[in-house]
Amino acid sequence: MAARQPVLDKTDLFGTLPPDLLEELRGRTALAKFRRGETIFNQGDIAKNLYVVFSGRVAIAAKAPDGRESVVAVLGPGALFGEMSLFDGGRRSADARALTTVHLIAIDFDDVREVLRARPEVLWAVVRILARRLRATDEALADAMFLDVTGRTAKRLLELAGEENEFRMPLTQEELAGMVGASRERVNKAIATFIKLGWLEVSGRSRYRILDREEMQARACS
Ligand code: CMP
Repeated sequence: MAARQPVLDKTDLFGTLPPDLLEELRGRTALAKFRRGETIFNQGDIAKNLYVVFSGRVAIAAKAPDGRESVVAVLGPGALFGEMSLFDGGRRSADARALTTVHLIAIDFDDVREVLRARPEVLWAVVRILARRLRATDEALADAMFLDVTGRTAKRLLELAGEENEFRMPLTQEELAGMVGASRERVNKAIATFIKLGWLEVSGRSRYRILDREEMQARACS
């Protein structure tokens, strides 16, 4: 697929590669398609490749022993995942699931190792990705301690919206609750509050529109 290169180009990890190496790597990638709800891999699976999201959205989720789930990240086009087990021993640290129809570019760990051997400076990009992830995890931990459910819901909705005010909710109510770290009822109550205050509009099952970003942002920090 000719469009594969621009996607690889835009990832933190491969964007720094010189064109010849990028071209060579592109030749060794495989495309995989998953439908909404399909499992890409499970926590504990033996890992052999990493993925770049070409299109669609992917949920990274951790499971508690009692089966409850926490969505730790929602990834979109250009995002890289499945790289942690390349560095720490081969088993998947979390589940990955398609939230929409998803096209992924899969790259074998052996090919990534070869790139890293040829271009050790690419490891800076790896460290940057992992440091960013640690920051996000630290922030989520602090949110769990210092923000109430309404504040955390506002924050997650703003994250899912990105820069757009209108967006389609890619998560089920259960998944959103898992991401906020609260029950479905409490998250729904927070959303109902935002609607009542005129900060948010929800139509159909998944069309969300942020009407007052400033108020939502203020609530996401208090
Ligand atoms: P890996 O352990 O191979 O498989 C699960 C993947 O989920 C992991 O690699 C990371 O790419 C990704 N992942 C795990 N934790 C997080 C997180 N907190 N934020 C974003 N991605 C994550």
